Amino acid sequence: MKKYIAVLPGDGVGPEVIKQAIKVLDKIAQKFYHTFEYEYGLIGACAIEKSGNPLPKDTIDLCRNSDAILFGCIGDPKYDNDPKLKIRPEQGLLKLRKSLGLYANLRPVKVYNCLFDISPLKKNTIENIDFVVVRELIGGIYFGKPRLRKNYGKTAIDTSIYTKEQITKVSEFAFGLASKRNKKITSIDKANVLETSRLWRETVCEVAEKYPDVILSHMFVDNASMQLIKNPSQFDVILTENLFGDILSDEASVITGSIGLIPSASIGEKISLYEPIHGAFNKAAGKNLANPIATILSGALMLRMSFNMNKEAKLIEQALIKVLEGEYRTKDISTNKTSSYKIIGTEEFGDLTTETISD
Ligand code: IPM
Ligand code: MG
Repeated sequence: MKKYIAVLPGDGVGPEVIKQAIKVLDKIAQKFYHTFEYEYGLIGACAIEKSGNPLPKDTIDLCRNSDAILFGCIGDPKYDNDPKLKIRPEQGLLKLRKSLGLYANLRPVKVYNCLFDISPLKKNTIENIDFVVVRELIGGIYFGKPRLRKNYGKTAIDTSIYTKEQITKVSEFAFGLASKRNKKITSIDKANVLETSRLWRETVCEVAEKYPDVILSHMFVDNASMQLIKNPSQFDVILTENLFGDILSDEASVITGSIGLIPSASIGEKISLYEPIHGAFNKAAGKNLANPIATILSGALMLRMSFNMNKEAKLIEQALIKVLEGEYRTKDISTNKTSSYKIIGTEEFGDLTTETISD
């Protein structure tokens, strides 16, 4: 199969981790006689520096003309520390999500047996963890208007808006997914306080009627943030709105031991985007320190979800586990407790994974 992949490495450690995913994808292409053609585009702080625009038109066009998008990460502390700046790297990603209609963001959370030791939670709490967060990605407070300052800058307004249509769309995606998994959805909202959450709950219940084999339950977001730590194995599919999903998925990643382990898929009508959930980790940029696992796994998700290449995706996932079982670790997933690990860099981790996918 021939596929065109738009590659957006972004900022910080983005280019390094993307490079490892591409190595692995090339190996898969070679092994299975596929052709992957990559075209690179700018987004985020590097795009602002070059063109003043965090999402240049060329980049959107490139994405629109591709079969899938592989994304690194964006951000730069120089923008974080200056709240007055009008142009920011993150706007690039938000605009891309909106322009391509990437309505559902899927974040799988799994704890590997060989990584039990790095979770901050007790072994018996994390033994059976295998859930996905489905986060609505183009609605809610991230995009609602008005968004402004008034009263001479002393009052700030953000607006959370959801339509029934938006909620229905992401819910149908989540129910479809749950029916192929353990048939359990926990919808997370704040319906005891927010009107958008009451519409959310009402709509999710309507969608649920079409999926009688899936068990739906509801949870308030404050309780959910506690349940994720207390009893995370109760979850199969978590369905939630944009802001809650952003926060809960970072929290969920901690259970696995490192945010460097979690990939994601942002699903659109025609094109989908795949990215690690971690940020740009600018301090580590160029130091061969970053964990490439989340990006390599994002590549595997791309093969599975956009190209229907299940065998290929599985092989990547198995290769990663083999490397970890060989006691090779990047720094973020090593503990000081034991010295039996071989701590290796980003590049070496990518090489080992590629080599493990034998011809
Ligand atoms: C994420 C990130 C983004 C978000 C930022 C970079 C805009 O935190 O993908 O989770 O808030 O959605
Ligand atoms: Mg986030």
